[in-house]
Amino acid sequence: MGQDIHGKTAYITGAGRGIGKATALKLAQEGVHVGLIARTESQLKQVAEEARTYGVQASIVPVDISNLNQVEAAVQHLKKELGPAQILINNAGIGTYGHFLEIEPEEWKKTFEINVYGTYHMTRAVLPHMIENNAGDIINISSSSGLKGTAGSTAYSASKFAVQGMTEALMQEVRRENIRVFTLNPSLVATELAFGEDLDDQDKEKYMQPEDLAEYMTAQLKLHPRIFIKQSLQWATNPF
Ligand SMILES: NC(=O)c1ccc[n+]([C@@H]2O[C@H](COP(=O)([O-])OP(=O)(O)OC[C@H]3O[C@@H](n4cnc5c(N)ncnc54)[C@H](OP(=O)(O)O)[C@@H]3O)[C@@H](O)[C@H]2O)c1
Repeated sequence: MGQDIHGKTAYITGAGRGIGKATALKLAQEGVHVGLIARTESQLKQVAEEARTYGVQASIVPVDISNLNQVEAAVQHLKKELGPAQILINNAGIGTYGHFLEIEPEEWKKTFEINVYGTYHMTRAVLPHMIENNAGDIINISSSSGLKGTAGSTAYSASKFAVQGMTEALMQEVRRENIRVFTLNPSLVATELAFGEDLDDQDKEKYMQPEDLAEYMTAQLKLHPRIFIKQSLQWATNPF
């Protein structure tokens, strides 16, 4: 009843580690060719190597998504190597935490430049082909902080609320072109962004794993093109 995603092409930002890496590898396992974007080339190379073991093409572009020119060049490169994206996963992001008055203005700005403008730049570069093809999937990784503010997350939460608004508005514009645009709103996932490198292995098991999110996204992408879940919160069952 659903659709086969085997043979499709996905561009994934933040694919060097964490949720992006797990998603790239899960999609590769499903036969999806993957274009991998993040700043750290060594991490992208490792992920690409592993993805290719599933028999798909994997291409990397080490760029900063907050830079519009770099993003446009990256998307041109991926188009040449893999063809245009049928799936875009806007996953790259940074966490900025602290009391409102303790976060420096530069940190606020950077949070928006990566989390909001990065998502905007990638979408702007990829969307015209999706419109031409009258099909496509854009998944924006927001956060539970994109729906609810909590103390210590003013910058992060504001950036994710912005992603939320942009996604909802764009979805209303392009659903007529059969393009599905939706957010995921995970609570804590055991990655470097949430826990740094300090979390010991035992504790990590209590929280959602990047692979859980990868599986969830893959399931959504396999839904029949006539349906999508436009927003969803992912929670760990028992993180106590
Ligand atoms: N972990 C959680 O608890 C959680 C919960 C809800 C939502 N999220 C969201 O999930 C997404 C992925 O987070 P994660 O936990 O997997 O984090 P992570 O492990 O820190 O990975 C983040 C990825 O984004 C890339 N990235 C960061 N800034 C970038 C930039 N300017 N240009 C290109 N790539 C950039 C990083 O690579 P480089 O540093 O090499 O560029 C890395 O590959 C984020 O949007 C985050 O807000 C996470």
